[in-house]
Amino acid sequence: MYNSALVFNPSDGTSKMFSVPIVQELTSQNLQSLPERYIRSEKERPNTFPPRHLDIPIIDMGMFLRDSDLCRQKELEKLGTACQQWGFFQAVNHGIPLSLTERMKVIVREFIQLPLEEKLKYKIQEIEGYGQSFVASDDQILDWADIMSLTTQPTENKKMDFWPTKASDFIETVDQYALEIQKFGNTVLCLLSENAGLKPDHFTNMSGKMTQFMRMNYYPPCPRPDLVLGVSPHSDTGCLTVLLQDDETVGLQICKDGEWVPVQPIPGALVINIGDMLEVISNGIYKSIEHRAVTNMDRDRISIAMFLSPSGETEVGPAPELIDELHPCQYRRFIRADYLQNLYSGKLDGKKNKIEFAKIKS
Ligand code: OGA
Ligand code: NI
Repeated sequence: MYNSALVFNPSDGTSKMFSVPIVQELTSQNLQSLPERYIRSEKERPNTFPPRHLDIPIIDMGMFLRDSDLCRQKELEKLGTACQQWGFFQAVNHGIPLSLTERMKVIVREFIQLPLEEKLKYKIQEIEGYGQSFVASDDQILDWADIMSLTTQPTENKKMDFWPTKASDFIETVDQYALEIQKFGNTVLCLLSENAGLKPDHFTNMSGKMTQFMRMNYYPPCPRPDLVLGVSPHSDTGCLTVLLQDDETVGLQICKDGEWVPVQPIPGALVINIGDMLEVISNGIYKSIEHRAVTNMDRDRISIAMFLSPSGETEVGPAPELIDELHPCQYRRFIRADYLQNLYSGKLDGKKNKIEFAKIKS
């Protein structure tokens, strides 16, 4: 059974459609061998040796609510260092109720379990819906994942045609979660602004009216996890990504100093990472790091990524306060929509063909 993948060109509104298998359907057919289209070249395959054990920084968000200046300052420095050196951290005590994050995971699983013909009612168009994005040709190697994407904020941009109605309280739960994530994301952006020596609202203001996009990733079990990837290496394209993932199943890996390091799930925690836009606005202080997902042989995995980004008409560029003789301007200014055009016209391919287009060569 096939679903569609679309390559959308926002500049002229045209799109090209490719057929891609639904991975969940493939796995239910008791595969004897892995279809060719998923087999990665040797250099792209997941590590066969045990990855180096490194833990990404953990930030206690509760510290920012406390009166003690000392605790707050120490945690702020830790947060700043995490975003400069890792581009990733895990947030604990983030204030989003566990009942809500657990409910989010349940509704995603409920959606996955809907009959196929029900899910295909929400088939991807442009960039929203059930299917794959970043498929640019008929022979491109595919990710071992099924994806559902929705615009969640601002609410007037929501395309309700893509919002499933058969899964119980899907709409209410996602709306509520989206609000919580917006609040949380703004808090993190304000803290990062402050840490960079800027006015606390610099990042939130500079990014114009923020948009929020949700991507639900479903990684079915894979008979040969050593040959495939769940998501190809990429950096995220907004300011900030907030990822909610399964508690037990490891899948996310980040590229730390040239090595792929797995992110061990911490129950109840959220994984936060810096996206390309914040790397630009912070003039390279905060790093948008490449990451990927691997699959597992006998377990499936879900994750829910919320991308907080500037709206399309926003002009994005380094904060003038962060540019001086010692810190020359690293990126030219651009309109977010032009960056998106560049992005959606190809496959996910590390960072190179994305933010590099704005990089000022020294
Ligand atoms: C993403 C992403 C990783 C994961 O959706 O951008 O990087 O672990 N997901 O699902
Ligand atoms: Ni990502």
